[in-house]
Amino acid sequence: MNTLANDTFLRALRREPTEYTPIWLMRQAGRYLPEYNATRKRAGSFLALCKTPDLACEVTLQPLERYRLDAAILFSDILTVPDAMGLGLYFAEGEGPKFERPVRDEAAVRQLAVPDPSGELRYVTDAVRTIRGALAGSVPLIGFSGSPWTLACYMVEGGASDDFREIKTMLYRRPDLLGRILDVNAAAVAAYLDAQIEAGAQALMIFDSWGGALADGAYQRFSLEPMRRVIASLKRRVDEPLIVFTKGGGGWLEEMAGIGCDAIGVDWTVNLGRARARVGDRVALQGNLDPMALMAGPEQVRAEAIRVLDDFGAPKAGAGHVFNLGHGISQFTPPDNVAVLVETVHDHGRRLRGGGASASSL
Ligand code: CP3
Repeated sequence: MNTLANDTFLRALRREPTEYTPIWLMRQAGRYLPEYNATRKRAGSFLALCKTPDLACEVTLQPLERYRLDAAILFSDILTVPDAMGLGLYFAEGEGPKFERPVRDEAAVRQLAVPDPSGELRYVTDAVRTIRGALAGSVPLIGFSGSPWTLACYMVEGGASDDFREIKTMLYRRPDLLGRILDVNAAAVAAYLDAQIEAGAQALMIFDSWGGALADGAYQRFSLEPMRRVIASLKRRVDEPLIVFTKGGGGWLEEMAGIGCDAIGVDWTVNLGRARARVGDRVALQGNLDPMALMAGPEQVRAEAIRVLDDFGAPKAGAGHVFNLGHGISQFTPPDNVAVLVETVHDHGRRLRGGGASASSL
């Protein structure tokens, strides 16, 4: 099925007129939802959940059953790619992701190879196909990948890091080795995103969660340039818009707008009105409520959402706003606040376009 009942999200990304501001949330399927925790328990682990297409489909749909979200995002993880490279991904309870075999020396770098998306990563494209079928043309499905740099951070550090000491030591001492990792990652990410498009993804997002840890200059060379190459080498993308999200990338928006993406995701440190003045007619913007605003009461959630929408201002021809959080939703978020958020964004978005708040978003 190619026609969508609700394509507001895709139109906003293309900077076409929309009746209201579309919204989805990073990590919208996750631990703040009791039904997610129940399915995860049945799966046995987070990774088993990712690797079982029927269960990945089930949790992808859960937030859409509760809220009038304007897009679904494939339930998976950015670290499936280095896992498929043989680095041995595991999740230590309470410690986040880790790799059994981090890439620390020249020999390990030489061994890296691009995983075939139809091999080890087959469960991802199977999940995309299953989810597309289950969505039955209701809202678009977003596919995604980590950025070459952000994947390299986990591959070299072996897990999460506060200071990125290992990978930055490599960056300054052996930029050639880091360059080789980024080349492999860029080819892997491009093949992975192409495969998701082929399986049915209708938009793409590149998560550059750690680009903001780089110095100016290093960001352009080690994060932005590999992302530009990924986008330039995508084969399958024809109509599917692509979003790039560098967390902490507020200083580089103009440069991000020039790498061939359709939209830029921004974190909550950025003022959306000023961001729009900088890039607004070149790309759409996605963001950027502080996820912790959802920890307050419904009145504050409403006020903060309206502030973000007003900061962007009335979307006119040639501009596009997709409402999102500035980063992933916290596992401690009260689910009822998400309902308030979605309703407020739809209603106030209509008002900004000169329409009245109506019950049609309820
Ligand atoms: O947005 C969605 O709903 C789609 C699913 C999704 C997940 N991870 C599910 C997930 C997406 C798009 C991601 C991306 C991802 N994964 C990123 C980039 C975005 C970002 O947050 O910056 C990163 C850096 C990762 C790596 C990762 N995966 C980390 C650091 C963690 C641990 C987080 C924690 O709070 O423990 C994960 C696990 C993870 N990925 C969970 C979910 C729902 C929680 C796993 C669980 O159920 O225990």
